[in-house]
Amino acid sequence: SHNRKISMDLHDHIGQTLVTLKIDLDLIADRVKSPDTSLKLVIEKAKAKTIQAIEDIEKISHGLRPSMLDTLGLLPSLRDLFEEVKKQTNIEIHFFTRDIPKRFDPEKELTIFRVVQEGLTNVIKHSRAKNCFVNLIKKDNSIVLSVEDDGVGFKANGKLGASKGKIPLGLIFMKERVIQLNGEFSIESRVGGGVHLFAEIPI
Ligand SMILES: Nc1ncnc2c1ncn2[C@@H]1O[C@H](COP(=O)(O)OP(=O)(O)OP(=O)(O)O)[C@@H](O)[C@H]1O
Ligand SMILES: [Mg+2]
Repeated sequence: SHNRKISMDLHDHIGQTLVTLKIDLDLIADRVKSPDTSLKLVIEKAKAKTIQAIEDIEKISHGLRPSMLDTLGLLPSLRDLFEEVKKQTNIEIHFFTRDIPKRFDPEKELTIFRVVQEGLTNVIKHSRAKNCFVNLIKKDNSIVLSVEDDGVGFKANGKLGASKGKIPLGLIFMKERVIQLNGEFSIESRVGGGVHLFAEIPI
């Protein structure tokens, strides 16, 4: 949808440009040897503004709500997302759902949508997986979500190695969103054993 495109453009393009701008400013700050402290101060201010802009972009892009979530609810929005992934990749998505209410707290609907969306984006970008299993069920008073792939898993050193010059934010923001809703979030990975994201949000 339109909002999703804006949201992804903000995150992927403008966000990345700002991150490289911040790196450029770091370089300039290192190289400025002049005793001109007022110049250093200006560079520091420019860096602070860049960091603020990166954070603002993330907030806006993650806050934009696909209009389908409001008109049709979570499950049809997810199915639509899966259809889009199907068109773009060869990854097979296996979706299992049980007892999910048609509508619930809009914030919680949005967070679950975002976790699945970012989880899938990561599967596409990093995993080389053939299959992705998305389970979404209601258990007692919680929504339980898992996104699991059969790809390469995290790097052997356990570090979340991002592409050069890029700060990985997807998992950090995902976790932050879930915690904000009093939920729990965890990630497991074995080298060669894929990645398993898990979130539980009380409703
Ligand atoms: N499904 C996955 N399979 C393999 N590696 C993964 C998977 N998901 C995440 N990773 C690894 O974890 C890192 C961190 O993920 P995260 O989503 O935080 O950042 P990113 O995808 O690199 O960048 P961003 O989400 O900010 O665009 C990735 O760079 C990648 O190395
Ligand atoms: Mg990511």
